[in-house]
Amino acid sequence: VSLKGFNTFGIDVPASHFIRVDNLETFRQAIAEPDLPPPFILSGGSNLLLTAPLEARVLYMDTSGKEVLDQDAHSVTLRVMAGENWHELVMWTLEQGYGGLENLSLIPGKTGTAPIQNIGAYGAEIRDVLVELEAVDIQTGEPRVFSNAACRFGYRDSVFKRELKGRYAIWSVTLRLTRSGHEIRTGYGDIAGWLEREGIEAPGPPEVARAVIAIRKSKLPDPAELGNSGSFFKNPVIGKSQFENLRTRFPQMPGYPQENGDVKVPAGWLIDSLGYKGHRQGDAGVHKNQALVLVNYGGASGKEILALAREIQQAVRDTYGIQIEPEVNIL
Ligand code: EPU
Repeated sequence: VSLKGFNTFGIDVPASHFIRVDNLETFRQAIAEPDLPPPFILSGGSNLLLTAPLEARVLYMDTSGKEVLDQDAHSVTLRVMAGENWHELVMWTLEQGYGGLENLSLIPGKTGTAPIQNIGAYGAEIRDVLVELEAVDIQTGEPRVFSNAACRFGYRDSVFKRELKGRYAIWSVTLRLTRSGHEIRTGYGDIAGWLEREGIEAPGPPEVARAVIAIRKSKLPDPAELGNSGSFFKNPVIGKSQFENLRTRFPQMPGYPQENGDVKVPAGWLIDSLGYKGHRQGDAGVHKNQALVLVNYGGASGKEILALAREIQQAVRDTYGIQIEPEVNIL
């Protein structure tokens, strides 16, 4: 089976075995099959760079369904199956009048992978609304509930990327959203400016979503038109003194102070400052509007994109002494 249609980079590599999972029984049968290579959980494929044919029993998570578990005048608790498309879920919650996911509009991928890297944008993260999630042990097929605290969320991080990497498939997530008294977050990026230019004075969640969608569309390429995986790198966090030293040499360098005194530096700025924005090597390139995004113009292999990523890492290290790490999973 070619995985070309199953990863947003549009990389054309085959998987040796491919099983579509839409219920727990299928999942359990698939992991119990003795004569197959090790399992690999495939979800939206929006955070994945495939650099070689995949010798694995690919379990493609294709479950669907969402249900209201509980609600009152102020809030609603929803359970959403892992295979639901994230952005469609966000749009659906807004149609129901629920608030909380609007800043996370237009993020590619499926609901089940959202907690793994604690998706975040425009001042919100999934950790803010996630009550708990259900995951299934990939070895035994046994379900286990993880509370928000047990997920150990961090910036683009959770226990599922660390101690429990490869151990669980996320099966469903439970989210608590608002039905009234919505907490509107317009402080990040140009949301407030966009709303003002549109003449929107008392924005609710749907208007914030419109702003986020417009801003994302202006910077980030649509994977349906140009293969990409969103931010390829994480924004590095460096010590305050290192940041201050760098600032004396590079006064334009932006930095966002963290609670512990460290400073988060936008990797997009670092890469952009080295002239890489719009750079192209064959069919691998750096997006013209956002240097943090690597793109596939059509025929790039995963290895070619990886080579470009390595070159960029090296260049950033040489000039700034900062090690930037990939955000996408490289396979
Ligand atoms: N910048 C440049 N040149 C660039 C890109 C950015 O100078 O080519 C500068 C901008 O001018 C700005 C700063 O870098 O001062 C930050 O840029 P931006 O607001 O676009 O955000 P980001 O740090 O590049 C992060 C997330 C995005 C998320 C946006 C908005 C990470 C790795 N990325 O990007 O997430 O949408 O903030 O919240 O944290 C993703 O994870 O796939 C993703 C797109």
